[in-house]
Amino acid sequence: MSDTYTLTMDDPIETSLLDTSAQGLIGKGLDRVDGPKKVSGQATYSAEYSFENGCYGFLVRAPFAVGRITKIDTQAAKALPGVIDVVTDFDRFIRNSAQGAVKSAPVQGVRDVAYFGEPVAIVVAEGYEQARDAASLVRIEHEAGSGNFDFAEAIADADIPPDGAAPATHDQGDLDKAMGDADATVDEVWTTPSQNSAAMEPHASVALWNDDGLTLYGSYQMPSFDRPSLADALGLETEQVRIITPYIGGGFGSKLGIAPESVAAAIASKQIGRPVKTVMTRQQVFDATVRRSNTRQRVRLAAGKDGKLTGIGHETHCSNLPDEVFFEPAGIATHFLYGGEHRRITHAIARLNRVLSGSMRAPGEAAGMLALECAMDELAERLGIDPVELRKINDCKRDPEKDIPYSSRSFTECLDEGAKRFGWDKRNRTPGKMREGEWLIGHGMSGSARGNQLQPSEARVVLRPDGSAIVETDMTDIGTGTYTILSQIAGELLGLPIDRVDVRLGDNRFPPGSGSGGSFGAGSSGSSVYLACEDIRRKLATAMDCEPSDLTLKDGEAIAANRRVSLSDIMSGEIEATGRIEPGDQGDEVRQAGHGAHFCAVRVNAVTGEVRIDRWTAVFAAGRILNEKTATSQCLGGVVFGIGAALTEELVHDPRNGKVVNRDLAEYHVPVHADVPHVDIRFLPERDTHANPLHAKGIGELGIAGAGAAVANAIANATGARVRDYPLTLDKLL
Ligand code: MOS
Repeated sequence: MSDTYTLTMDDPIETSLLDTSAQGLIGKGLDRVDGPKKVSGQATYSAEYSFENGCYGFLVRAPFAVGRITKIDTQAAKALPGVIDVVTDFDRFIRNSAQGAVKSAPVQGVRDVAYFGEPVAIVVAEGYEQARDAASLVRIEHEAGSGNFDFAEAIADADIPPDGAAPATHDQGDLDKAMGDADATVDEVWTTPSQNSAAMEPHASVALWNDDGLTLYGSYQMPSFDRPSLADALGLETEQVRIITPYIGGGFGSKLGIAPESVAAAIASKQIGRPVKTVMTRQQVFDATVRRSNTRQRVRLAAGKDGKLTGIGHETHCSNLPDEVFFEPAGIATHFLYGGEHRRITHAIARLNRVLSGSMRAPGEAAGMLALECAMDELAERLGIDPVELRKINDCKRDPEKDIPYSSRSFTECLDEGAKRFGWDKRNRTPGKMREGEWLIGHGMSGSARGNQLQPSEARVVLRPDGSAIVETDMTDIGTGTYTILSQIAGELLGLPIDRVDVRLGDNRFPPGSGSGGSFGAGSSGSSVYLACEDIRRKLATAMDCEPSDLTLKDGEAIAANRRVSLSDIMSGEIEATGRIEPGDQGDEVRQAGHGAHFCAVRVNAVTGEVRIDRWTAVFAAGRILNEKTATSQCLGGVVFGIGAALTEELVHDPRNGKVVNRDLAEYHVPVHADVPHVDIRFLPERDTHANPLHAKGIGELGIAGAGAAVANAIANATGARVRDYPLTLDKLL
């Protein structure tokens, strides 16, 4: 056993071991260490776990939108061959716990339903098809309640939520006066639709019980956070739940919290005494997990002739179910991206009976910068100032609200480098002037920004005398590259080739990691591995009789002064260390964020309104880049999300009952390969000593921030049309 070596980030860490270590792994664009397992089918995803005597669960959902269930008739379902039971007695049922409140429900199958298709029971059968068939025979009676389905109407009664990821309200100075006094203004409204994370792997759980409690194979981004919430939903102690989630086929926020199928599978498994596997259908993922809220955003900008902002306003209405506190913090980047003395940033929730809304990739920036960055473009046009130049004019040295410095900020550098790489100087500023046959050509750009966070995270590292190491943490890899970068960090600091490091993730038996969310996964979990390795290096230095700073570890050898020995010669046994990182009060002293800039060229067909993207350049600065290749993939994915947000993605709700109408990947249109051009992604060298000992900031959600606005701005440059209702489908462009 070893003590936990803990670092609290109260002060900047000026020197990072990653700058002086010798293995040469950090930053390199190394292939994913889990890649071969994934492409050869050896990475086991939740739905693929099978156990002896296992059976299948299928969720039964409310066939109405709002009301109280009075009876669940299970007779016909139970009469089908293979059906084991229909479980309707949930002490507590759950939506997506991390996304909203754990919802209590009375027992005996009587409960309140808040949205169309909310899960209310589970059928368990020997076969999957039998369970699915039986679920269709469950009859549900209810007393109808009244709901809200119209966003415009519900806005009138919107409420201001408690502060969330960002403050709900910020008022500074007198924006109305600044608007009145300005040389140029923008005051427009943008709307964005509901969206779905649309991860490739559907939500799935396999639940089994033993004397110690519940083991649940599930698809979760944050196992150390989901564990207590699943325990709470089941009336268990945290220690009685073990979540196992080694591989996750994408989450994008939809797997931050536990989804209904896990609780249902756990309760059913307990009741019938057998392992229960419950896999959500694609349609259930779309209409019974969580969505990104639709928004209505009013953005106001006030500026002088010189382009300097004097005022900035961003007022957002989003929607969520009654009583839920999550709001889409669309103004989150507006707090710190541009200067301006008079500021008003607000959020309000319109209460709608639609499937729960919660975090989806870059909650806040993803929707908010679709408005803010178009408003900046419109302001540039009204002032006759180049849009890149306008952003540089309004770049700030200190946070305009808190009057504190940025931990690091290379916004102007990203704008300059992007403009150069893209060839921005060849753009025709007058809309509608570039044309090839029936195609109108346009160039557009946007700024990008995403706040950086640190979360508590713990990891155990074991170094063996044979020159191999094991890393264990319940951190996850949701397709982002965690296995790879943690291998790189441990390999780098312990002087081992990457294939000598065995990283084990996604199991509550391991030390509690940060989980994957909010772009904090790499920085937080990577720091815990760093600290454990630093502790091991101290112990090796003692064995080498030198100062830790004089110790070099490379290729399984320890080198100090004129001594060079293999690890096996100085290690009498395994060395184990546990590292833990904790956020300190850095957040109050510096504003931490990653920055970037997007540039794209589009073609708009003058006859059909079809939009094609021809070219994309994006430049980011996010502190140290741990792996050029996985980082590039993260940002590339963000750009693809941005293209989807701009052009195709929209979860359509039936105006009569809020039901999601387009519930699969055939009808909910995400960009496919043919929709995505070559994307040129660059990272500027940057270090952030305030962020963590790695000096790295988050990139998971930086790439999507602003991306869609660059498309909208390019379309405006091509056509002269400012469409402010996303997605910019061709019917709106004609
Ligand atoms: Mo992210 S929306 O925190 O998975």
